[in-house]
Amino acid sequence: MDTQEFDRLLKEETEIAEQVLHKYLPREEGWQREIIEAMNYSLLAGGKRLRPVLMRQTYLMCGGKEDAVIEAFMAAIEMIHTYSLVHDDLPAMDNDQYRRGRETTWHVYGDAMGILAGDGLLNYAFETALKAVELCYEDGEAHPDWEDITRIRHIWTALSVLAQKAGIHGMIGGQAVDVMCEKKPETAGEITDEKLVFIHAHKTAALIQASMMIGAILAGASGRQVTDIEKCGYNIGMAFQIQDDILDVVGDSLELGKPTGSDAQNHKQTYVTMKGLEQARRDVEVLSLEAAAILEGFAGEHEFLKNLILTLIYRRK
Ligand code: IPE
Ligand code: IPE
Ligand code: MG
Ligand code: MG
Ligand code: MG
Repeated sequence: MDTQEFDRLLKEETEIAEQVLHKYLPREEGWQREIIEAMNYSLLAGGKRLRPVLMRQTYLMCGGKEDAVIEAFMAAIEMIHTYSLVHDDLPAMDNDQYRRGRETTWHVYGDAMGILAGDGLLNYAFETALKAVELCYEDGEAHPDWEDITRIRHIWTALSVLAQKAGIHGMIGGQAVDVMCEKKPETAGEITDEKLVFIHAHKTAALIQASMMIGAILAGASGRQVTDIEKCGYNIGMAFQIQDDILDVVGDSLELGKPTGSDAQNHKQTYVTMKGLEQARRDVEVLSLEAAAILEGFAGEHEFLKNLILTLIYRRK
């Protein structure tokens, strides 16, 4: 696949993710209108939409057909990811004022509304994913047939992956250890290589794993295939956070849409401070090549997905 073709497909896939998200946005109405505005402000600020794109591509690779069920989960994962950013930027966390090329949510709407908008996005993500169940019944009264029951089983498994990878054994767990290491070093103890890998694997890789695993699960992939995808998502996620740490040092704030130097300002130990730029760059490459190699075990079309993983090695935003 040449670069032009890849760029065209990436644009198309990002546009699909964008349209899906628009379909599931909460309506800005009622006494609580302000919080919904704050939620939509963060959701619509742009962003690469990497997680829904990875989800849809994994779904298609595993034989999934065009279906509103995958769409509900694509919107849900982007809502959870966006909430993680809204909270990550809060003064009590990374204290950042710029995100996705705009002022951060808390900076526009205030701390309290920033916290609530994050909570709202997390909850609304599950409200959205649960709509996938309703979609299985054309007629709510009808007795479900076997095909419906299999689909509902897949949705249940997907929901449980989403919940776990977003929670204390996933993203929230990683963010908690990250914050402990930065703000309470006396309790957290020395940051070791092992702890840094734990942080990256949880705060970032977990949601990327969830995106891809959900795509596979909803397409009806085997347990073995889902395990392979979990490993693939781990590598992509680790590489993604290492590159994020690199860009915090050498990136361009305008291009990134968020501040550089945020980690240094918070005196944070990152992959770059621990291992140096060169090692960090090498590890991004090794992890990504390994992720792309895992896809070769899949018979379904994955040329675009493979190229996506490989171009992320050199991403500048
Ligand atoms: C930023 O994620 C936070 C990390 C997990 C490193 P992205 O780089 O995917 O942010 P958006 O969605 O494009 O804004
Ligand atoms: C946070 O990592 C990852 C999340 C779960 C939000 P960072 O704090 O490095 O993310 P950025 O650099 O602010 O996007
Ligand atoms: Mg952070
Ligand atoms: Mg941050
Ligand atoms: Mg960062």
